[in-house]
Formats: sequence, structure tokens, C-alpha cells
Amino acid sequence: MAKTLIKNDTKLLYTISEVAQQAGISIETLRRMDRKGEFKPSATTPGGQRRYTSEDVGRLFDIRRERKRDVSRRCLTISFVNVKGGVGKSTLAITLAGALAQRGYRVLVIDADPQANATQGLGLDPERTTPTMARALLPEGDRDRLPLAEVIQPLPNLHPRLFLAPSHIDLALVEGRLHGLQVQREIVLDEALDTVRADYDLIFVDSPPTISNLLINVMVASDGVIVPIDATYALSGVSALNQTRALCAKVNRHPVLLLGAVLNKQVMNTTMHNVVLAQTEMTFGAERVFKVMLPYRTEIEKATHRGEPVVFSSDPAAALYVELADEIMKVATERLGARATADGQSVAATD
Ligand SMILES: Nc1ncnc2c1ncn2[C@@H]1O[C@H](COP(=O)(O)OP(=O)(O)O)[C@@H](O)[C@H]1O
Ligand SMILES: [Mg+2]
Repeated sequence: MAKTLIKNDTKLLYTISEVAQQAGISIETLRRMDRKGEFKPSATTPGGQRRYTSEDVGRLFDIRRERKRDVSRRCLTISFVNVKGGVGKSTLAITLAGALAQRGYRVLVIDADPQANATQGLGLDPERTTPTMARALLPEGDRDRLPLAEVIQPLPNLHPRLFLAPSHIDLALVEGRLHGLQVQREIVLDEALDTVRADYDLIFVDSPPTISNLLINVMVASDGVIVPIDATYALSGVSALNQTRALCAKVNRHPVLLLGAVLNKQVMNTTMHNVVLAQTEMTFGAERVFKVMLPYRTEIEKATHRGEPVVFSSDPAAALYVELADEIMKVATERLGARATADGQSVAATD
């Protein structure tokens, strides 16, 4: 039963927005926790208004810490990042997601690039697809904002365990608004993902090719990042990216690990391939370059245009993506202590 405090005690009480600010979570989330009985304010002012005590706030921090540990035990968030465009971020995100759905994981693809290439590559027309990530990332209080779960679509034509939160060019406008937020503008995506993580084994995030607030949101929300490198290697972008990753890890308060670089669009046995491989190994360390490298194949471009990742076709390139997906899961398991399993252990979302 809520205790009523005498007037002198009221300075020890916090309003919902003060608690939200202290804990770095949204008022919406606090209200939801209240409704579900997970975390309720324990005090009432003499005027009858509900307030949180400082013990409540301490309890909230415990709950959040516990939940984060629980959730990450089940769900791994991996993003595909490179400030260079055309290297294969979108293609890898959707194709590897497809491969791992086939392996038995429940996989959610988040298209966090306003260019919406991952959305197209999974067979959806961004102009005809609603709602999209733009609505899930709107600032709190905006009338058009939607819970992420309402933006996610199943992709039954491709695979029953594959899901997509589609993008639209409007996301670029939302990014501008996020940038204007005074507080917590780096954790908007992470918070949105927290509401659905319990429902998936893996979340693969496709990202925009610029160091922007959106990319920072993507990295802050990630447990690990994968950097696709194409046949023309660009070093300057990669070191900027690495610095950003370190900063994001600080915001997140957990490491945002570099899982590795993937060499993509390679023409094997050429001087250029050897040079790119040597440079990539020098920058990332040989042990951070995935052993499976992807050759340049026109079939991949065709798959993109068909809106069906190559793993769902009979093309021989499919086997390579499956091999790479297995290597990624092996590295993730070793380095992140990933407990994501492919045996359908995900529990249903509670929100
Ligand atoms: N291994 C590959 N061989 C040939 N084309 C590829 C390969 N990987 C990706 N592509 C093509 O390259 C283009 C850019 O890839 P994309 O994944 O959109 O890059 P990014 O997301 O980094 O901008 C797309 O048309 C895609 O189909
Ligand atoms: Mg892309």
C-alpha cells in the first residue's frame, strides 16, 4: 500500500519525469512498468499525487540492470557499419539475416538507413510500406510516434522466422529532430529495441553511410559491429568509425565490440584483392578479418533487385553467405559470450 508522506518529506519525492530523466528512460516506459506492476511509485503527496521515493529510484536501477543482463542473454544486436556507401552493408545485413533464420534463429532486421535499401532488398517497396522506422524513432510525445513492435512486419514469403522494421526516406527528417533533442538523443533506438528484444534471438541493424546521430544510435544499441570492406579500401573512414564506436561504448556502458571486417565484392587472386586484404588485416588485426570472403558476383546485384536475398535462391553463392553467417555466430559466441540460441527459446514479447 502506498504511504502518504508528511509535508516535510516531499522534497525527497520525485515526479515521473524526474525519474525518467535520472534513469535515462522514457516516461512511456515508466508508465508501462507501472501498468504492468513491475515498478510502481510507492508514495503519495498530501495532495494525492503519486510520487517516487529515492528507494524507488534505487530499485529501478536494479531492475534495469537485471533486465539488461537477462535480455542480452537471449538477444544479440549486431550492426553493419561503414561510412563508405556501396560496400555491402545492406546486402550483408539482409542476406546473413536470411541465412540465420534458415539456421533456426528468430531474426529481426532493422533498416536504420533512410535510403531503405534493406527494405527493398527484402522485397518491400518503401513508398508503399507503412508504418516505418521513421515513426518508431519520433521524439517522445509526438502524436505520430508508434511503438517499434507496431512497425515490425513478418516476411512470410521469405522465411517465417525473418522480420523487418522497414525504412523510408522520412527517417532523414526524423534524424534531424533527434539531433535537436537536448538529452538522451543517442539512446532512442536502444530504448526502442529494449521493448522488442525479448522476442528475437538476433537483431541485425543496417546503417546509413555517414557518421550521423542515426549511426551513433545504431552503434549505441549494438553489442557488436561488422564492417564490410569492398574492393577499394578507404582507411580514413574506418578510423573515424572506430573512434565513434569507442564513444558509443561509453554511452552504452557496455562494450560495442568490433566483431570483424568482411571483405566483400572481391575479385580473388588479383593484386587489388591482395592489397585490400593486407591493408584490412593491418588495420583490424588479422584475427578480426572474417575468413569467409565474398567474391564479386552479378547474381548478388540481381538478388537485390529481385527483393530476395540470395540465400533463398539456388545460386551457389548462397552457401558462402551461410558459411559466413556461421563464422559470425561462432565469433559472437566466443567474444560476446552470446547465448542466443537457434532452438526457438525466445520468449514472447511481454509488451
Ligand atoms: N558480393 C557482391 N557482388 C556483387 N555485387 C554486390 C555484392 N555485394 C553487394 N553488391 C551490390 O552492391 C551494391 C551496393 O551494396 P549495398 O549492400 O547496398 O551497399 P551499402 O549498403 O554499403 O551501401 C548493391 O547493388 C548490391 O547488390
Ligand atoms: Mg546500404
